[in-house]
Amino acid sequence: MCGIIGIASNKSVSMNIINSLKKLEYRGYDSAGLATLTNESINEKKCSGRVEELEKILFKTPSEGNIGIGHVRWATHGVPNVINAHPHSSEQVSVVHNGIIENSDEIKKELEAKGIKFKSQTDTEVVTLLITEALKINKPLESVFETLKKLKGSFALGIIFKNFSNIIIGARRGSPLAVGYSKEENYIGSDSYALKSMTNKISYLDDGELCVLTKDEVNFYNKNLKKINKKILIMSEDEYSIDKGEYKHFMFKEIMEQPETVKNCIDEYVDSLKNNINILNFPIDPQKINKIVLIGCGTAYNSCITAKYWLEELTSIDVEIDIASEFRYRKLKFNSNNLYIFVSQSGETADTAAALDICKKNNVKTCSIVNVIESTIARNSDWVLPIHAGTEIGVASTKAFLGQLTVLYILCLKLAFVRQDINEKTYIKNISNLKKLPDAIKKCLAGENNVQLMAKEFITAKGSMFLGRGSSFPIALEGALKLKELSYLHAEGYPAGEMKHGPLALIEEGLPVIVIAPKDKYFEKTISNMQEVIARGGKILFITDNKKESLNENIRFGLRVPHIDNLLSPILLTLPLQMLAYHVALIKNCDVDKPRNLAKSVTVE
Ligand code: M6R
Repeated sequence: MCGIIGIASNKSVSMNIINSLKKLEYRGYDSAGLATLTNESINEKKCSGRVEELEKILFKTPSEGNIGIGHVRWATHGVPNVINAHPHSSEQVSVVHNGIIENSDEIKKELEAKGIKFKSQTDTEVVTLLITEALKINKPLESVFETLKKLKGSFALGIIFKNFSNIIIGARRGSPLAVGYSKEENYIGSDSYALKSMTNKISYLDDGELCVLTKDEVNFYNKNLKKINKKILIMSEDEYSIDKGEYKHFMFKEIMEQPETVKNCIDEYVDSLKNNINILNFPIDPQKINKIVLIGCGTAYNSCITAKYWLEELTSIDVEIDIASEFRYRKLKFNSNNLYIFVSQSGETADTAAALDICKKNNVKTCSIVNVIESTIARNSDWVLPIHAGTEIGVASTKAFLGQLTVLYILCLKLAFVRQDINEKTYIKNISNLKKLPDAIKKCLAGENNVQLMAKEFITAKGSMFLGRGSSFPIALEGALKLKELSYLHAEGYPAGEMKHGPLALIEEGLPVIVIAPKDKYFEKTISNMQEVIARGGKILFITDNKKESLNENIRFGLRVPHIDNLLSPILLTLPLQMLAYHVALIKNCDVDKPRNLAKSVTVE
């Protein structure tokens, strides 16, 4: 988490640093800060809270300087206050850092034993002080190199030096770092989006690499400090086209964009003329796939669970799912006939990236389903299936979830067909159902007013439950995740059939219970579970695609989504739940795009 930026220029850099930090705020918004070099001294400005506050400070007391670094923080070590905000500077150096220095306590003790004093509670300050020490006998690049040897963990760093006022050094181990080029100006940033208004020419540091920027040139070094060359990528305007448009929040815009993003995704993979799916070059012969293992975190993990139901329904392949932060520490038996699929919007989630690394070390085939195609996870996997959702800014994932589901469904269909688990007629029928999805999504979104009314049922709620069976179970989990992250209201997602094994004890008069009940093979069973909740006073909010089900007096509120096909119902049933979480958050006056304590890209383990 955290976002870093560095600019070496022939003009004052502070306002461009602020603009880039605003773009990086999705990575963390606990505090913000910058440091520039003015008259050969380090000039630091920091605040707790948002970049807006930092901007106000700069309006009152501007920071001059043609070289500077900036940071937005998602706190890991130490509370989010001004002292712990980055940059962390000594007399000689100033450092911004994204990631975690795992052995910082150990290093801190060693430095304190030498009489060196610390100002903050952060792990970052050890980097500042180690470089400061190394500078007594080395030049800047060697000092950083020597310091890196002592650090454990994963991080990206941006460093400026009081006595070397024309350079910025960037270093990457684990956490991403992009480099941008322009005329008489060069940049480092946590992602290319942060550099968007300044350049479309981008390179990415690989693990262990360093770079030295001046306003005129960028030099790259590998982990042995040998000079290397990097490819320059030209980013297209599409990769950058992001603003809120007519909407008040990115999240709502992203919800409303879903008919379009899902259509884009389908168009990328489905050949409408030939009624075929253009997925080729499987890293393993599909006939020989023994098992598919799906791995992700948060919303991406909920996509994996949904895909498990699809793969089981459509194919003869064995399926396993895992949360990346569990997978990476388990004692696993790898099999070269297994396909390991990593699902991630950002492609930078530390746990998912680490799980992928473990698979690579065990020589098994990997596939990633990502939104950011230049991300670490995409670059490190054998096979990439992009979701084509466009940049997602809202911290709560919406359109990326639907994109992940769409690609996973398309992949399941293709696998089922090439393995002859389904016949051509079924394959074509499923493709034609899939093509109806964007319009059905549009219809669901048109029901927003009803969802707004449903949201009022949460005004006095102390908690809530989301219930579903079969492929509606992961959608219940996703609905509960959205509600808790946006409105800070406790929400549990449960398989409806599991209620009687404990959670039923939570049901009391008026507790909102969202029952997700499409007309599938589980419908009657879900209704029975709903009755058990009604009998104990739960307030039922019912979501179905069943035209026949009449909503009776025991159901406090009912919503109907269109029906296309049972396999696709989880996708449609997600939409009211996204809108519900959004409207409850509005009622509760929560920050929809930047929920407390969270960040978009989780680059710590
Ligand atoms: O970028 P990723 O898809 O790997 O992120 C995984 C989770 O951190 C993410 O889905 C998180 O749960 C979202 N905030 C949920 O809305």
